[in-house]
Amino acid sequence: MSEIAYVNGEFLPLEKAVVSVEDRGFQFADAVYEVVRTYGGQPFAIEEHIARLFRSLDAVHIDPQLNPAQLRTIIEEGIHRAGFDESLVYLQISRGPAPRHRGFPAEPKPTVVMTIRQLQTHPEWRETGIKIITAPDIRWGRCDVKSVGLLANSLAYQAAKEAGAHDAVFVTHDGVVTEATAANVFIVRHGVLVTPPKANALLPGVTRDKILHAATEAGIRTRETPITRADLHSADEVFLTSTTAEVVPVVSVDGKPVGTGKPGPIAARVYESFQRKYVSR
Ligand code: PDD
Repeated sequence: MSEIAYVNGEFLPLEKAVVSVEDRGFQFADAVYEVVRTYGGQPFAIEEHIARLFRSLDAVHIDPQLNPAQLRTIIEEGIHRAGFDESLVYLQISRGPAPRHRGFPAEPKPTVVMTIRQLQTHPEWRETGIKIITAPDIRWGRCDVKSVGLLANSLAYQAAKEAGAHDAVFVTHDGVVTEATAANVFIVRHGVLVTPPKANALLPGVTRDKILHAATEAGIRTRETPITRADLHSADEVFLTSTTAEVVPVVSVDGKPVGTGKPGPIAARVYESFQRKYVSR
């Protein structure tokens, strides 16, 4: 078992992996990425992640010079070579190295990088819940693209840490909640599960879609409609979803308790339904 990397066709130990200082991913955040986890050693929702990666690539006009089937093989081989019981796969494709200039290189040579590490999760958060703050959404207008330009996410996450919270949720200048720094947002209002609709302002989370299905399966009504900061503050429950976090209940927003101040029953039911439907088969 070892942390490994893949760089343009070659598997190597993580600490040996390097890319050019002139890589456009490094200089311009001219790159997109995916994060995939395993359950029982098998990559979860691999087709959905690869499809989203190709939508991101297409949106920024990067030709990966690989097809979806080849990428899938690389991911599966990486997981196999690393040999962890559960893995976290990070896959990034940039427009490649070129002398620094805003225009695209005439003949781009994309950089395809993957790292495989042992998956780290926080199951205790399902019992304790987490605290979040709201932060101004200062990001660009295409957050549906999984771009590596995550500086605003990093700043908001750090602000949350410094405020004694676990994460931040972005709110636009007109008070609309988009998503967390690395997760989608759900609230429960009068027994209905609500999440913002897909739009350019947020990432269409793979977990988000699965959670909506799992909730319906558990007999919980769902709505995809905008959420405001006031909705977040007055919700009966709030939770975040992502590949690594799955479902994480939020027990406080901006220092105010959510509902009873404890993880809520709908979050628990949705998580159980998600596990039943997609994981423990
Ligand atoms: N992030 N929104 C943002 C901004 C994200 O970065 C992520 C995932 C999600 C949830 O998407 P999914 O359910 O497909 O994981 C929503 C990954 C895990 C990351 O950057 O590490």
